[in-house]
Amino acid sequence: MTDIKKGLAGVVVDYTAISKVNPDTNSLLYRGYPVQELAASQPFEAVAYLLWHGELPTSEQLAELRASERENRMLQPAVRAAIDLLPTTAHPMDVVRTAVSVIGATDPHADDASPEAELAGSIRLFSALPAVIAYDQRRRRDDDPIEPVEPRDDLDYAANFLWMTFEEESEPLVVDAFNVSLILYAEHSFNASTFTARVITSTLSDLYSAVVGAIGALKGPLHGGANEAVMHVFDEIGDASNVVPWLDTALAEKRKVMGFGHRVYKRGDSRVPTMRAALVELVEHYDRPDVLDLYDALETEFVDRKGIYPNLDYPSGPAYHLMGFDTATFTPLFVAARVTGWTAHIREQRASNALIRPLSEYNGPDERHIDGYEDFV
Ligand code: ACO
Repeated sequence: MTDIKKGLAGVVVDYTAISKVNPDTNSLLYRGYPVQELAASQPFEAVAYLLWHGELPTSEQLAELRASERENRMLQPAVRAAIDLLPTTAHPMDVVRTAVSVIGATDPHADDASPEAELAGSIRLFSALPAVIAYDQRRRRDDDPIEPVEPRDDLDYAANFLWMTFEEESEPLVVDAFNVSLILYAEHSFNASTFTARVITSTLSDLYSAVVGAIGALKGPLHGGANEAVMHVFDEIGDASNVVPWLDTALAEKRKVMGFGHRVYKRGDSRVPTMRAALVELVEHYDRPDVLDLYDALETEFVDRKGIYPNLDYPSGPAYHLMGFDTATFTPLFVAARVTGWTAHIREQRASNALIRPLSEYNGPDERHIDGYEDFV
């Protein structure tokens, strides 16, 4: 009997020097640094630099990356034209996926797989995505055609992202919470979307194709789509007092409760305490204790009954809601963060490539033949 590892569970397929997930110690390291320390001390741009280069930037290197990011922040006319062609009924993940395709198709160096060209492409995507996501959320809210909000050169990545989305300057506490979420979402070893990007890269396809594929993998509710799905759960439950009857029904119907469980972490997700702390700050800032009451009530009841712990999507969903993002925009925010990890992995895969092509065990019909097929040949 062949030993089939369904879902590749427990299979180690390659080395990576980018991040280390350790479920035994409940820790996550980016290039050796605990993610909690990075979230407490670094801007998202510095973490992007760390993932790409292996070291945190000096102040000059950070300034250089920030200058490149500012140069690439504008919503490009071709990208805007493509978004405008899409109906507002399209899911925002489909819009982001399309936008990345257009960004790739308009990059004259898209098929240049040199490390320098791929780093430039990585910075281009990292810089361009906030304008795409912000414009798409804004156009959905407005019946009339709208203009994108001009980026602000005096604002760094996270603050400018919020500015382009809401056309108002966010409080430092909100910018900090957003920055923390981006850092926590940036990288997580061989998750489904990153592995997808590595599979595509392994065929010697280009960086943009790999990111488009990764976006498709992230969209699913078992992966990144869960942060959006968590908010739907919160909306369904409505109030902490409804948690018990809601959960009775959900479990009786054998529903998966989104935002709980993880393939690797079985005793809790290392990123959750940091994101919950950011959520608590937002709850106090916006005076929405009801959100935390519901969060805690569902977590307590679900962990008590199933022994399955929350993952990062559980606190980040309500946190993005409090910041003012529409629920359908949550997973694109995950894309904006994870594009740093994906592109780091694409470059790592490229540097020591082997075509990823596993085997399968055939369990279809035994060999059989078409009656009289010889008459056709
Ligand atoms: N709600 C209810 N039951 C669950 C949940 C959940 N969220 N998660 C796992 N279980 C149950 C399964 O039903 C299964 O029960 P069974 O053995 O009685 O059939 C058991 O726990 C094992 O679950 P699997 O899905 O086989 O575990 P796996 O490791 O493959 O799944 C996964 C991990 C897909 C994340 C799962 O926990 C899940 O579906 N969670 C909800 C979606 C979610 O939140 N995804 C976000 C992942 S993290 C991220 O992308 C940042």
